[in-house]
Amino acid sequence: MKNFKPNFSQFPIFLGFLFLFFSCGEKKDNVSEENGLVAAKAMVVSARKEASEIGIEILRQGGNAFDAMVATELALAVAYPFAGNLGGGGFMVYRMSDGEIGSIDYREKAPLAATRDMYLDENGDVIPGKSTHGAMAVGIPGTIAGVFEVHRKFGSLPIEVILAPVIELAKKGVIVTEKQERRLAGSRADIIKVSGENTLFAATYQVNDTIKYPALAETLMRISKGGRDEFYKGETAKRLVQFLEENGGIITLEDLASYEAKWRTPLTFPYKGYKIISMAPPSSGGVTLGQIMGMVEKFDLAQLGHNSLPFIQVLTEAERRAYADRNYYLGDPDFVEIPVGKLMEKDYLNARMQSFSFDKATLSSELAQGEIQFQESDETTHYSIVDPFGNAVSITTTLNGAYGSKLYCDDLGFFLNNEMDDFSSKTGVPNMFGLIGAEANAIEPGKRMLSSMTPTLVEKEGKLFMVVGTPGGSTIITAVLQTILNVVEFDMGMQQAVNAPRFHHQWLPDNVTFEPQGFSDELLKELEKKGYLINKNNTPIIGKVDAILVLPNGKLEGGADKRGDDTAIGF
Ligand code: GLY
Repeated sequence: MKNFKPNFSQFPIFLGFLFLFFSCGEKKDNVSEENGLVAAKAMVVSARKEASEIGIEILRQGGNAFDAMVATELALAVAYPFAGNLGGGGFMVYRMSDGEIGSIDYREKAPLAATRDMYLDENGDVIPGKSTHGAMAVGIPGTIAGVFEVHRKFGSLPIEVILAPVIELAKKGVIVTEKQERRLAGSRADIIKVSGENTLFAATYQVNDTIKYPALAETLMRISKGGRDEFYKGETAKRLVQFLEENGGIITLEDLASYEAKWRTPLTFPYKGYKIISMAPPSSGGVTLGQIMGMVEKFDLAQLGHNSLPFIQVLTEAERRAYADRNYYLGDPDFVEIPVGKLMEKDYLNARMQSFSFDKATLSSELAQGEIQFQESDETTHYSIVDPFGNAVSITTTLNGAYGSKLYCDDLGFFLNNEMDDFSSKTGVPNMFGLIGAEANAIEPGKRMLSSMTPTLVEKEGKLFMVVGTPGGSTIITAVLQTILNVVEFDMGMQQAVNAPRFHHQWLPDNVTFEPQGFSDELLKELEKKGYLINKNNTPIIGKVDAILVLPNGKLEGGADKRGDDTAIGF
């Protein structure tokens, strides 16, 4: 541990640290609670074993990280329909073995017929459920455009080879896990309400049941043959538009035909000698992560101690300030001016933290005009890949809500997103998560809704050091932040950093949320004494991080989040 100076009164603690030091330093090539899988050359970490296996299979066939991205993304659509998708969108940040970096935005877009007030009634009130359930909630899907664009630019194996194991998985079916049984049970009533009694997910599935996806296999076979145009202009497009129309949606063939994924320059910033590479708008992830890290950089966090009272204070206050900015300034850069440079300036960030004191919490109401607040849902998924050539990709993809809009197209075999709810339906009125929308994120035809997704890479001394990301709505950013700090400040290994209990603050609502394990009642009372408001609702998990760390010997350690069914596979 950095900056740790033992004295005799600290001897038992010192022994504990010594144990930790050696258990972190001597990683075994096997998985345990605190040590992730260690592999020599390549790794895929995702929300489902089946998807990680398919990604690795592509790498074993000689494919690169981009081929594996295509395979893993679509395998998640089969194995993890909760968030994996053909009917949603996402972001990828990459770093090539020679250090070149980039990112792609395959976020959904508002249909051309979308209007600013489309979710309001004649009195100007938000119509409950319209932006969250059913066909009106659906943004133009970006995933197939995204994976094909990645493959066009960087792929090395033929698309048929990459899709073959995914199609096989859809035909063979996927075994229901305990966690999946719970997730399905939690959403079944809503799915039936939106998609009817006869939909695939109207059935009750239990652990060890196998769900087969023949319609999805057919769709994937057509896409494998016809390419991206099959989804956006071909038979699949026609059937999708007809299905959406029949269900009261407004997406047209023109919407699908005009959708394009976009290459964007990733957001980069330094942190204590490391270089962080993350997603720029229309995701708020990179800017907000950069603001928080910029604000906490001047503190000796290692000295403060992991999850200690002062550590929680520093992070909470930086998060409070960064989220206040995020909610006011960020939106789709193709539609709104975003002062990214100014928001990331060191002087500006230091000035933001000037009002912070270890004695007393800042109140969010004192910090800003209470302009606006928005958040996205928890139900997203992240995967990380490093290939044997040294390329790395970090990808977060989503349907927004659990099973998206709950609209399942049985004909094509996939759920449609409810990403339209990530726009602000009406400035000042909370969305489905009780949060309030911002002007910069108002609905416009063809605009991308703001996201929190934070696929991130970290470089150390000019070399790849970490690949990291998570689902978790607005908690994505703070979960990624804590995972990075756990490694760079507290010398944790990858799995240990992923396991560590997390907390979250986002300006409004003005409270700190803690995972149930790892924060003592005494600690929470101390925070309350200093004026912090504690969220007493049970929040079982904050984020589900899937990450890869390059160890000093060049091997890769996976961090697969035990909060889910997440699995690291490597060779
Ligand atoms: N819908 C989740 C996100 O984009 O952050």
